[in-house]
Amino acid sequence: MRLVLKNTKNLGDIEVTDGIITSIGAERSDCDEEIDCSNAMVWPGLIDGHVHFRTPGQEYKEDWRTGSAAALAGGVTSVQDMPNNAVPITTKELLEEKQAIVQKNAVVDFKLSMTASDQSVDELIEADPDFMKLYLGASTGDIAVTKPELLERIFQETHGQIMLHAEDEGIIRQNEETYKGESEPEIHSAIRGREAAIAAINDALELAKKYNRSIYLCHVSTKEELDLVRAAKKDGVQVYLEVTPHHLTFNEGSYKNFKNFVKVNPPLRTKEDNDALWQGIADGTVDVVATDHAPHTRDEKQEEYWNAPSGIPGIEFMFPLLLTGVYEQKITLDDIYRCLVENPAKIFGFTKNIKVGAPADLVVFEPDTAWVVQSTDVKSKIGWSPYIGYQMQGKVLRTIKHLS
Ligand code: NCD
Ligand code: ZN
Repeated sequence: MRLVLKNTKNLGDIEVTDGIITSIGAERSDCDEEIDCSNAMVWPGLIDGHVHFRTPGQEYKEDWRTGSAAALAGGVTSVQDMPNNAVPITTKELLEEKQAIVQKNAVVDFKLSMTASDQSVDELIEADPDFMKLYLGASTGDIAVTKPELLERIFQETHGQIMLHAEDEGIIRQNEETYKGESEPEIHSAIRGREAAIAAINDALELAKKYNRSIYLCHVSTKEELDLVRAAKKDGVQVYLEVTPHHLTFNEGSYKNFKNFVKVNPPLRTKEDNDALWQGIADGTVDVVATDHAPHTRDEKQEEYWNAPSGIPGIEFMFPLLLTGVYEQKITLDDIYRCLVENPAKIFGFTKNIKVGAPADLVVFEPDTAWVVQSTDVKSKIGWSPYIGYQMQGKVLRTIKHLS
């Protein structure tokens, strides 16, 4: 099978033969399929550093077939999957079992991580995995490391990349008391208030400094956190900062339309925070944009506030949404490349090359094409998205991923 990407704007013709790149730049025509790329650019397949594909145990929400399909629709060919499964990945055995199951079904490259609760810190240290996702405040069940001395042990005795869900457990529990008689979705942004995120980020930066360890801060959502990280980076602290498409797009005003469908941890903030996060991408404070693709069914999301699970899916729409940000002159194409390819490749250890002889791992996209998201564009198993009806400027034409 010979495929030619004809006349791409950045690399000319690209020929792919049986999944391997066989020519770049020279004119090619003799092929089985030709794609007109005269309005398109070609990049390495994108990386999503934060997904919840729900295997094993919650395949009714997502599995690696549907998750991979959703990823490819969004130009994503590599993902970092989170460990908050039905049975959380807290031992080496569970990690190996998960690896074997995912390997069978994934149509994208993947990396997995381990987590810990206060009770299972020893197992984490014993396993010393490449990637750890630690919750400083519980988001799923009671998975969280809440005792400072246990966190310090992890920082001292492990060697992998520490990824942090940084919201302060104590502050959240206190706020829950205040709001326990209410059930409007809006209270979510008050219960998990910005002060909980800011306090936890402060603690995390202190630990990174004290133990000279690199930390990766998941889904940073407020202007204050960005400012703290910007200052810490200047001081030489090893810190990576991630933001999500939903924290760039939605805010406290969005509950009115979407109710608990936009209930997410950390919660939606303000319009000023949306703007600050875009600015953070533009000025280089943000290292990674990742989806935190967290599918839950419609039925689950229609439960009343206290029972509705947190999480917003959207891996199909991250890239178009960022391209729309380029059209609106908030960020540049180079910013997207840095946050979706270059930085996450380095942080998570994915190899991304466009060269003759390499397996094809490509996203072909039109930076300027306008389109409106339809329900049929949702490839995730749960079949809903807050982005339906959203006007995008920039479209994935094709994603090509050679499976080895
Ligand atoms: C995540 C999920 O649904 O798995 N939800 C979320 O709101 N981000 C849990 C998490 O990692 O916080
Ligand atoms: Zn998450």
